Amino acid sequence: MESGFYSASGSQPPEFFSPFSKNNQSRVKQVWAVGGGKGGVGKSLIASNLAISLSRLGNEVITIDLDLGGANLHTALGIDLPQQTLSDFIKERSPSLNQCVVPTGIPHLSMISGAQDSMDIVSLSSTEKERLVQNLKLLDADYVVLDLGAGTNFNTLDFFIMSDTGLIALLPEPTSIENAYRFIKGAYYRRLKMNPHLAKIHPLIEAASDAKNSMGIRTPSDLFREANRLDPEIAMRLKLEITKFQPRLIVNQARTQADIDIGSSVKTVCKRYFGIEIQYVGYLDYDPAAWQAVRRKRPLMLEFPHSKLALNLEKITQQLIKQHSPGSISFL
Ligand SMILES: Nc1ncnc2c1ncn2[C@@H]1O[C@H](COP(=O)(O)OP(=O)(O)OP(=O)(O)O)[C@@H](O)[C@H]1O
Ligand SMILES: [Mg+2]
Repeated sequence: MESGFYSASGSQPPEFFSPFSKNNQSRVKQVWAVGGGKGGVGKSLIASNLAISLSRLGNEVITIDLDLGGANLHTALGIDLPQQTLSDFIKERSPSLNQCVVPTGIPHLSMISGAQDSMDIVSLSSTEKERLVQNLKLLDADYVVLDLGAGTNFNTLDFFIMSDTGLIALLPEPTSIENAYRFIKGAYYRRLKMNPHLAKIHPLIEAASDAKNSMGIRTPSDLFREANRLDPEIAMRLKLEITKFQPRLIVNQARTQADIDIGSSVKTVCKRYFGIEIQYVGYLDYDPAAWQAVRRKRPLMLEFPHSKLALNLEKITQQLIKQHSPGSISFL
């Protein structure tokens, strides 16, 4: 059986169906996760600079490098590899996640650096993942921003789907677009499979996640039809879960209007063929400031605060905050 947040704790419902913000002990208002199926699409650049942008608005922010294999978020933030990293927590050398939080030198922004042992997120057991999730909620921050690794392994997908805001970065290139679709579909089916209320139709969901399944389930509406045949009540629950899944998309390194429009095309395709409502929250211009900042080991927002890219990132931060502010529609 695949690993999952709730498999280790038996009958407990999976945590990611209760967003962090709803936990009474938690100060954390929002968890944002930046993923995308492919490596090098700008996940760390986006995570680090959204975190800076949030902190500049006066929020206490902690950003966490969950790219356990190739952790380098600290470099994007312009600091040396901290002594304490996530591996200390995972290997239980640090009893609490709070002890792995280090200052970045940027007001209101701290970070937890990625594991540095030869460990990757795939090898995180469900017990380790659950402990990490429980501790994430207790961090002393308004926002927690997760920098996910590349790929679509279950652990990465789980951190994405448990977040309040899941962001997918893609480059305007066929391989990156393909990987983004794979990531979206993977997260979508993972979310449904992990929902205990849909247990009765798990075999159907399992079948649906195989694009060549013999039951002819190709789209969420096919899945709904089959679920409805089995149990109309569960089918309604399924519909609700499908509408709740609303990942956000960012097109990175846009050079032309056609690049910018890729975000809208992906949105349309997701809606038409998968029934998934993606929100295209904006694009980031291709900007040499990005690699110049990396070479100087300085965060882009601080080194080039007036660059096109910094302004793009600020705009996206504001847009995301607005979506969750009182009076706006909550998707969770
Ligand atoms: N908008 C942009 N304009 C120019 N260069 C960019 C832009 N965004 C990212 N880059 C460059 O692309 C490279 C990859 O970015 P980044 O490290 O953030 O990607 P990543 O998705 O985190 O990669 P990995 O999967 O390896 O962790 C970096 O050198 C960065 O400077
Ligand atoms: Mg990265």
